[in-house]
Amino acid sequence: MNIGINTFVLKDADTAIIPVFNETNDLKVESIQKLYKHFKENKKFKGRAGGILTTINISESISQDIIFVELGSREELTSESIRFSLSSAIKKAIEIKGSKVYVGSIIDEKLMLEDIIKSVVEGIGLGAYKFDKYKTENKDNINLEVSLENDENSSLIKEYISEALLLVQTTNLARDLVNEPSNVIYPETLSQAAAQAGKKYGFQVEVFDEAEINGFGMKSFLSVAKGSENPPKLIVMRYFGDEANKEDILGYVGKGLTYDSGGYSLKPTTSMDTMKSDMGGAAAVIGSISAIAERNLKVNVIGVIATCENLISGRAYKPGDIIGSMSGKSIEVLNTDAEGRLTLADAVHYIIEKEKASKVVDIATLTGAALVALGITTTAVITNNDEFYKKLETASLITGEKIWKLPSFDDYKKLIKSDIADLKNTAGRNAGTITAGLFIGEFVQNKPWLHLDIAGTSWAEKDNSYYSKGGTGVGVRTLYYLAKNN
Ligand code: BES
Ligand code: MN
Ligand code: ZN
Repeated sequence: MNIGINTFVLKDADTAIIPVFNETNDLKVESIQKLYKHFKENKKFKGRAGGILTTINISESISQDIIFVELGSREELTSESIRFSLSSAIKKAIEIKGSKVYVGSIIDEKLMLEDIIKSVVEGIGLGAYKFDKYKTENKDNINLEVSLENDENSSLIKEYISEALLLVQTTNLARDLVNEPSNVIYPETLSQAAAQAGKKYGFQVEVFDEAEINGFGMKSFLSVAKGSENPPKLIVMRYFGDEANKEDILGYVGKGLTYDSGGYSLKPTTSMDTMKSDMGGAAAVIGSISAIAERNLKVNVIGVIATCENLISGRAYKPGDIIGSMSGKSIEVLNTDAEGRLTLADAVHYIIEKEKASKVVDIATLTGAALVALGITTTAVITNNDEFYKKLETASLITGEKIWKLPSFDDYKKLIKSDIADLKNTAGRNAGTITAGLFIGEFVQNKPWLHLDIAGTSWAEKDNSYYSKGGTGVGVRTLYYLAKNN
């Protein structure tokens, strides 16, 4: 997929996307206004955001295919509704094989121009995404040239467009990584993908192998990795954009299970078939640091991914095992399918001790319970610092990636204490998302910390708004803005 945003006029386009509100619209081009009036008078519009009306090659006076896209009422307009509407419009444009697409402007007093432009670009770029590289037939080779109608073609607008396009590109990179199967993306190739992103976007990448990981004492991480023939890797990504404040380091830790079979606490087949996506957190970290580095943000960010596969074999760890960890704490493993927290415990400890992160964010497809609690649209968050949470909230309001904070009362912390070791890795079904998050919290010392459980939001079971079935790349944009507003 390739999308470029250039400037060309309507008459050079083959397709025009015309956004319209429920209320009366004054469209500048007379022939399009006539068409609009015709549809309006004949009550052809649905009256809600995302509605589409298409006309193909209708008359001599209009040589473009016209796609009217409804924005709903002016009252209801939000950045998120713009993303949604424009994504349906671009999907239609691709369906009718448009390649030079002119997009009419959205004029609104309530939203800032910056938000409108960025949402239009994100809606188009995220909506056009398709993972069909393994199809040998019926592939859409999407190659779009898009022009946004602008009354003023200021350099500021160009900035908005390029920032949004970058976030599209890095989010779609994360989606690709999630969508790739586990026979293609495994620890070694995930490390290569991170290194490639580092080269392309300008950050340093160091990859530690099993012996080095062992040297760090990451016994908890290595216990999970033991069952696989594919050796684990510890990926470290470093970006220093604020040399003057070297001790201010934002640490991003992503769960990087390139496959999670559950181990000896084996998953049923129907839960296992999407478990190539258990590295959605890692993909979000790679994507966000790519965007941060490309924009040269004035911030220091370190990303860490402890990546491995959770499989069964004669070497695999077993329920009942007691294992150590880099921090020195001992852990009773009651369920080998609660593996993510074991890899993350060592990864957050590592990022604080070795990389000197002063704040930590971990992002992980951690619990099915997050789906039960919040469904597929909202990411669950656990934190030890409300001020830090507020910053995440600000970022999430910009991106439309919804978050919700769950409580972390001391009662919950008691549930993960073991009778025979310091901690246990499961506390049963109750409050599963909270106890999983708080387990990781046991390893963050007292650094400001946010835990994002994206088990529900990182994978779409079917097309939904600007997401198509598969990886959503959730977190890339929010972690970018979190760093930007740090
Ligand atoms: N990777 C899964 C969580 C998951 C489930 C992600 C569904 C996406 C969709 C995680 O490693 C896991 O297996 N968690 C267990 C924890 C339980 C054993 C305490 C779960 O949620 O069942
Ligand atoms: Mn698991
Ligand atoms: Zn998992």
